[in-house]
Amino acid sequence: MLGFLGEAIRNYRQTGAVAPSSRALACSMVSKLSQFKGPRRILEVGSGTGAFTRCILEQMGPGDRLDAVEINAPFADTLESTIIEPHLVANPEQVVRVHACAIEDAALEGPYHVVVCGLPFNNFPLEMTRRIFSIMLGSMAPGGWLSYFEYLAMRPLKSPFVGRSGRSVLQAHGSYLGELEGQLNGQRRLIIGNIPPAWSVHLQAMATG
Ligand SMILES: C[S@@+](CC[C@H](N)C(=O)[O-])C[C@H]1O[C@@H](n2cnc3c(N)ncnc32)[C@H](O)[C@@H]1O
Repeated sequence: MLGFLGEAIRNYRQTGAVAPSSRALACSMVSKLSQFKGPRRILEVGSGTGAFTRCILEQMGPGDRLDAVEINAPFADTLESTIIEPHLVANPEQVVRVHACAIEDAALEGPYHVVVCGLPFNNFPLEMTRRIFSIMLGSMAPGGWLSYFEYLAMRPLKSPFVGRSGRSVLQAHGSYLGELEGQLNGQRRLIIGNIPPAWSVHLQAMATG
């Protein structure tokens, strides 16, 4: 928790939160996993210290594979040593790989049935958000689910503090994310039991044919 706060102070734009997500938000973020039978491929983007990773690992079975991507090296180290290594000792028939790099640079091994994304999109330039969604959606199996979250009323709350150009970036994010929800069978759920409360948002990759 203190380590998380330190990283948030050092680089708030990239970290996007002052504390790890709650168990309630994590459960909602991984809820689509149960729709698929194994062996499943799962991608987690922005694992931080593992709030969602723990829930993913609890649901994994023999033959499942998780790729966890985390840009922040101290977070990636903590994730690997405190969560992934002990899990693999107990579950040697599963494959879990930590990619200590940006999602834009990760060597992904899809197609993924489920993508769980913890990135703070409202802190990013719109082009970066678009690029990352294109990478994630492009790595998915048809009919797979991508889950991301955003804090309740984050854009209106930020707006007064970011100047005119910042407001237009926030608005453009709202429009872009809204379009994705419209196009990709979007579903959302409000999670009050998180600080601050957050929406988990679920998008379904287009089935072909
Ligand atoms: C809001 S935190 C979420 C952490 C964790 N999933 C949770 O819910 O507690 C966002 C995380 O995304 C990571 N991150 C930011 N940009 C990234 C990128 N381009 N690629 C991979 N990880 C990134 C940050 O370092 C941070 O750990």
